[in-house]
Amino acid sequence: MKALILCAGKGTRLRPLTFSNAKQLIPVANKPVILYSIENIRNAGIKEIGIVVNTENKMSFEDKLGDGSEYEVKITYILQEEPKGLAHAVGISRNYLKDDPFMLYLGDNLIFENLKKYTQKFLKDDCSASILLTPVPNPSQFGIAVLNEQGNIVKVVEKPKNPPSNFAIIGVYFFKKEIFEAIDNIKPSWRGEYEITDAIEYLIENEKKVRSHVIYGWWKDMGRPEDLSEANRQILEKMASRKILGNVDDMKNIYGIVEVGENSEIVNSQIRGPVIIGKNTVIKDSYIGPYTSIGNNVFIQASEIENSIVMDNTTIINIEKRIDNSIIGSNAKLVRSDIRPRVLRFVIGDYSSFHYSE
Ligand code: G1P
Repeated sequence: MKALILCAGKGTRLRPLTFSNAKQLIPVANKPVILYSIENIRNAGIKEIGIVVNTENKMSFEDKLGDGSEYEVKITYILQEEPKGLAHAVGISRNYLKDDPFMLYLGDNLIFENLKKYTQKFLKDDCSASILLTPVPNPSQFGIAVLNEQGNIVKVVEKPKNPPSNFAIIGVYFFKKEIFEAIDNIKPSWRGEYEITDAIEYLIENEKKVRSHVIYGWWKDMGRPEDLSEANRQILEKMASRKILGNVDDMKNIYGIVEVGENSEIVNSQIRGPVIIGKNTVIKDSYIGPYTSIGNNVFIQASEIENSIVMDNTTIINIEKRIDNSIIGSNAKLVRSDIRPRVLRFVIGDYSSFHYSE
């Protein structure tokens, strides 16, 4: 069985981070989101993964993940040249998937549910599709499914104004080859995209069996910056043990579960876990508070940070107020200097945000 991960979306709600990086390559707890998906798929027993990319992000995925051997999977890249929707992305992958059953995984999904049992059940079942669902408080923002008493799906609708249920499609699906006929028979939606939800509705209308599994564990789709922060929090919360590979001048200043990568240096600083710090990073005269991920080659001096993500190669010096609940991209510079006149000087990318309170 193969899996197909869709990564060709533009990630507009995560700008400016997605100007320089595909949404699925943004690090959460110092690991690109897509690696959590790859591990999850591998743990379900699937080793062959097709990743659908677009012309802009193709190279970044190839650079980061290569042929997948580092992650014990075999990755094939499939190019979706135009943003024509999820069903279109599946349709163009038909040569890769052949006529075998497959798992479809939306690449911006973070889910820690073990998928093995659903995979095995699907392969033994006579259904044409099986879809993972979860109850949500805001059903208008998702694809929504209506179930009958046997747990089969009798209707699906994409982002309904008047939701007929609160079971959201979370972005993990299992399909058999009938889905390709469905995709060939649907029309673009109002937003001009071929929706996978419409293809599923086609299966139902043509009396194919579509099963569901409702999961109740934590799940998030990485649409907005606050989703990244929450995912970061959840993953750090699960960190089990302390791992200090770099140099810490005084271990008495390290509290709780903290990871410090190779060649990193913690000098005269307090670190309160859960915190993860990458390689070759220097933290000096600073405080790093709970739920913070700091990448590789970062330099932080005389500053305080918590509940935040700081990506690779970034410099933070002398910021007098505590930085909280922030996402700071790679190669960024946040510096306070005492030179007068005291001014704020910005070089901030498009769609950035800066919030300041006295
Ligand atoms: C997609 C699907 C939707 C599903 C959601 C889960 O929507 O079309 O059915 O509920 O993913 O994240 P999108 O996030 O692309 O708008």
